[in-house]
Amino acid sequence: MSNQLNIILNGKNIKGNPGETILQLAKRNGIEIPTLCNDPRLKPFSSCFVCVVEVDGMKGMQPSCSTKINEGMKIETENEKVKIARKTALDLMVSNHYADCEAPCKQTCPAGVDVQGYISLIEKGLYSEATALIKETNPLPAICGRVCVRPCEVACRRNHLDEGTAVGIDYMKRFAADMDLFSENRYIPEVAESTGKKVAIIGAGPGGLSSAYFLQQKGHQCDIFEASPNPGGWLRYGIPEYRLPNDILDKEVAAVTELGTNILYNKKLGENLSYKELKKEYDSVILTIGSQRGTLIGCEGDDAENVYSGIDFLRNMEMTGQKYDFEGKTVAVVGGGNTAMDCCRTSLRCGAEKVYVIYRRTEKEMPANPIEIHESKVEGVEYMFLTNPSKVNKDKDGKLKSMTCLKMELGEPDASGRRRPVPIEGSEFDIELDYALAAIGQKTEVNFLEDINEHSDNGKLEVNRWGDIDADKSTLQTGVKSIFAAGDGVTGPATIIEAVAQAKTASRSCHQYLMGLTLEPEPKEFISRRDTFKELTTSDFLGRYQKQIREEMPVLEADDRVNFKEVELGYSDEKVAKHEAERCLECGCTEFHTCDLKKYATQYDADQKHFEGDYHAYELDFSHPFIEIDNNKCIL
Ligand code: SF4
Ligand code: SF4
Ligand code: FES
Repeated sequence: MSNQLNIILNGKNIKGNPGETILQLAKRNGIEIPTLCNDPRLKPFSSCFVCVVEVDGMKGMQPSCSTKINEGMKIETENEKVKIARKTALDLMVSNHYADCEAPCKQTCPAGVDVQGYISLIEKGLYSEATALIKETNPLPAICGRVCVRPCEVACRRNHLDEGTAVGIDYMKRFAADMDLFSENRYIPEVAESTGKKVAIIGAGPGGLSSAYFLQQKGHQCDIFEASPNPGGWLRYGIPEYRLPNDILDKEVAAVTELGTNILYNKKLGENLSYKELKKEYDSVILTIGSQRGTLIGCEGDDAENVYSGIDFLRNMEMTGQKYDFEGKTVAVVGGGNTAMDCCRTSLRCGAEKVYVIYRRTEKEMPANPIEIHESKVEGVEYMFLTNPSKVNKDKDGKLKSMTCLKMELGEPDASGRRRPVPIEGSEFDIELDYALAAIGQKTEVNFLEDINEHSDNGKLEVNRWGDIDADKSTLQTGVKSIFAAGDGVTGPATIIEAVAQAKTASRSCHQYLMGLTLEPEPKEFISRRDTFKELTTSDFLGRYQKQIREEMPVLEADDRVNFKEVELGYSDEKVAKHEAERCLECGCTEFHTCDLKKYATQYDADQKHFEGDYHAYELDFSHPFIEIDNNKCIL
């Protein structure tokens, strides 16, 4: 056409149609300019300023959606100045975007499980679909539904409304996973065609099983080498059956092996398995060895007979199938974490007459799950808070006789943020004991460094100053390019869900390595958070949502617990699970997967705190029976 305009777009001479905007011109020429407020059916608003471009000779940036082209126009759509202007526009917008992209439960879950999503599927009775959604990020829902420490429930917004009773996120997970596990049409993920690559995974604990689950789906043959005669690692040898029955564990392990993964038992790297052999047969290795060497009390005399490390105590019972005989005995458990809880509750099940938990801080500082503390008290465990052992006293045969303890008081906070316990001078007292169990920490045992380093030709495996495996934080690749690591062996003793989360990262990196790709961690996304603006309190929820009491977990009567039967019985039926699902406030945004604001805020690295100050917090409009109107999310 003769009346076409000559334009220079990003340094290229092109023809423009008279009357068209820069945005239309760019689009016709395959150049994408971000837009938010523009709707081609309407006259341009020019309010978001995300579509700005630089036009030679014009002052400042021009909104491309409303600026018409002229003869000889020279336009830049992607230079540094344009990017800064777009980022500023987005910073301004998100600084007044009082909205949550993701629910806090999902944000707090180390594995990023889509809690809101699976709860909504449970509400519809779609249990296998709920399980499938959970398994995208956590392959062990029936296990975690029983023993997870539940950081999601601490973060749950329901706590603000119903006096500290979160949505039963974990109980519902257990319900859906059990329904699926025992159904005839269990969820089984698709496995890609074989890539011909093989991965050796060291350890069949939560990290190893999860790594295999993710990698096998990608078509890589996974073989797990397990030092013990049975799978599960800490899940079997550290968690007693009254919390996690072995048949549930076995079923969930089978859901991993049915994808094609093999587990080879009684194989310990550094002992009867060498890296030299593995290297010949496998393209990559993932170390998921756990952190299972127990420590003793750490005071004079702790080598006395009948003083054990808590995890050895728990492991020995599972290994031998024999209970310790504590009939009529007095047992002290030293420590305040979940292992201490497992030790004290197990001691009672072994017949102990009296079980004390000795902890140097107060109950408030105990790292153990509050439910465990509660149940231990119901079962009769007695607590000695602000108390610390200073000496183990032996009889003439070297057997534990008593323990000398000191009373403590809390001083200044230490590195962990908890107040440091300080001994009170002259407060010593003795307590007569038959057994003592130390549940105060675990160490990682890396006995294969030499073996690996002697035979590695692509790097060196190292441990850090705590004795854990050294791996890149974002990819979990170790110093040896073909070896990855995940779980407690990297972090030191942590939680099951953290091991699962690490397995997801390590297997992603391992897959990239096997496919010859550059190792890239999961990209970081922009996430808008209401908490960025203010701390949410009860007043933000009261009157806006209905109160509804939490469906509590039915449990065995206390006097029916001197055995290893599962204490928590699970929701009795679907009605209970669906009723609990109704308590979810659906905190995350429905537009999460399609939102352009989130997409561009991610692309331009927008910062919600850049322009701190006034913001609008609009009331949600629930007047329509099905549509919720949230003006906080309007960007015009
Ligand atoms: S997904 Fe989009 S609309 Fe929803 S809260 Fe996040 S940024 Fe706002
Ligand atoms: S109310 Fe629902 S979406 Fe919100 S934090 Fe709790 S479980 Fe998650
Ligand atoms: S899309 Fe052009 S100003 Fe919003």
